[in-house]
Amino acid sequence: MDLTTRYLGLSLKNPLVVSACPLGLDVGNIRKLEDNGAAAIVLPSIFQEDIESELEEIEHLVALADAEALTYFPDHLAENAGPKNYLELIRKARTAVDMPVIASLNGTSRTGWIDYAKQIEQAGASAIELNVFFLPTDLTLSGAEVEARHVEILKAVKQTVSIPVAIKLSPYFSSPGTMVQTLDKAGADGFVLFNRFYQPDIDLENLTLVRDLKLSNRGEIRLPLLWIGALYGKVKGSLAATSGVQSAAEVIKYLFAGADVVMTASALLRHGIDYMKALHDGMVADLAEREVQSLSQLRGSMSRGKVADQTAFDRVNYIRILRGGKYVA
Ligand SMILES: Cc1cc2nc3c(=O)[nH]c(=O)nc-3n(C[C@H](O)[C@H](O)[C@H](O)COP(=O)(O)O)c2cc1C
Repeated sequence: MDLTTRYLGLSLKNPLVVSACPLGLDVGNIRKLEDNGAAAIVLPSIFQEDIESELEEIEHLVALADAEALTYFPDHLAENAGPKNYLELIRKARTAVDMPVIASLNGTSRTGWIDYAKQIEQAGASAIELNVFFLPTDLTLSGAEVEARHVEILKAVKQTVSIPVAIKLSPYFSSPGTMVQTLDKAGADGFVLFNRFYQPDIDLENLTLVRDLKLSNRGEIRLPLLWIGALYGKVKGSLAATSGVQSAAEVIKYLFAGADVVMTASALLRHGIDYMKALHDGMVADLAEREVQSLSQLRGSMSRGKVADQTAFDRVNYIRILRGGKYVA
């Protein structure tokens, strides 16, 4: 059975990718994930705030330095600018495994931190996943401005590096499909659908805000499933599914919808690294039972363009569901 797939122009041995999460902070984990079947890994994000605070520190040092020290600073700066540990992690991960190592760059505005993308490339990352985790809580900001900001950041990163750049998006656009197509035209090499948002809760006893992180459940595949199904065949860039994978069944569903790769974090954090093998073997068993020879046979065959009943992707479906009288308690 041929499980190979292409993602961001990279050739992967199968469609299972470790999503950005703390497991990727440890090179031993990264090696085990590869041994258990992972075909690529996205490292946890380096944040604009981390990069900027280190740059500020360096500027402060430069301001304090005397003329003699300044002649020494340029090389020193080039060597140290940006959080060094992340670059070191990329280097070590690349040496430790054969699979592609994708760095995750997380920021919300187009400022000096974008140069750090170049250092990520130089450290040996196979690609960059750009995560624009932007909450427009500034109520004067229009939807068009938020969209334009995504395009600007993507273009800035694309101009800085020559490795492929995927963009991880929120589902909260007035028209997510158009947003993806706009970014596709702007040069994105792939789309990671979707970012999960971590909203605060209120602790009624202590009247404090709760900032916990809930791992996902399988019901969460439905939103990415819908949009991957709608976008399959409509963009040049690759489609990556993230959210809700708990078993091989979700992996298979995402492939049917049209995903080039399927990412997973919560399931691995819940069950441990070895669970990658369960996902891998479960996927292979399912495909064997369907007598699938290669992924291209099933990929996208349940996408919006391919199913006979396209209404499942549309408003008609909404009306039918509400009137259908079938409830899952
Ligand atoms: C503990 C934890 C840390 C995460 N850290 C990051 C991160 O640094 N950058 C990022 O883009 N996504 C991060 N995510 C989101 C995951 O990459 C993934 O998109 C999300 O959890 C949905 O996938 P899942 O249902 O398989 O968990 C994190 C998720 C978890 C659970």
